[in-house]
Amino acid sequence: MAERTLSRVVPGVETSDGAGVRLRRSLGTGQAGRLDPFLLLDEFGTDNPDDYIAGFPPHPHRGFETVTYMLNGHMRHEDHMGSVGELTEGGVQWMTAGRGVIHSEMPQQREGRMRGFQLWINLPAAEKMKPAAYRDLPAAQIPEADVPGGRVKVIAGEIPLEGRRVTGPIHGLSTEPLFVDVELGAEHLLECPVPAGHNAFIYVYEGSVTVGRGADSRELPPRSAGILGDGDAVAVESVGDMARFILLAGRPIGEPVAQCGPFVMNTREEIEQAIADYRSGALVDYGDS
Ligand code: CO
Repeated sequence: MAERTLSRVVPGVETSDGAGVRLRRSLGTGQAGRLDPFLLLDEFGTDNPDDYIAGFPPHPHRGFETVTYMLNGHMRHEDHMGSVGELTEGGVQWMTAGRGVIHSEMPQQREGRMRGFQLWINLPAAEKMKPAAYRDLPAAQIPEADVPGGRVKVIAGEIPLEGRRVTGPIHGLSTEPLFVDVELGAEHLLECPVPAGHNAFIYVYEGSVTVGRGADSRELPPRSAGILGDGDAVAVESVGDMARFILLAGRPIGEPVAQCGPFVMNTREEIEQAIADYRSGALVDYGDS
């Protein structure tokens, strides 16, 4: 068994998106910030309503999947298919934009903490134009496993933990995403299997951790994406009181990426088509034409 080590760090940078929601973007800051099949990771986290109250008014997507994981707060999702979803503490929204989605995500609170992540996962060419789909996963549908000194929530994929396989509610996708949220108490180590050949990264959002063991051990700066080298497992140890982090892995697609804002395709021509379709109303299928 080869253990993965920390190979590079994509620092999180402050930015804003939607109608002025403040967030911290790590993956997605330029070409070098992508990790096939992952296109983008935004962390939002604030106690100040001014930073989130304007939300994300209606906007389009085509060609990939968006995943929103709420740690604190309450947002409402609405889309052109008529889906309405309440995103609350510990819940996940998994949306496959496919050929096109127009949706909004608006805060349902006027004060208090809003915290969570948005992740973009690419789709292979053969799936970019598939029909849009949407799933709401309340916290109760996300399995949690105890590990020594902590716990692991499995949002997507399957992972052996403490002698049993824990399967998240999202599985069977061609990119085989693994998405786990880990909390570790003071100076505890978690060894987590990660399929060899899949790209993987860790993002620490509370406390700090080291990645790897012994001479290979490196501290990962909090609130930055730590990209792992290849191997079939990773050892992560909390430093100090405790740490909370997410670990993501996925099968690389290996195709060219052409992106213009919320449209992610393979070629420039397909991007121009997406923009033209959005302007003409042909981006999304309302199911009545
Ligand atoms: Co969106």
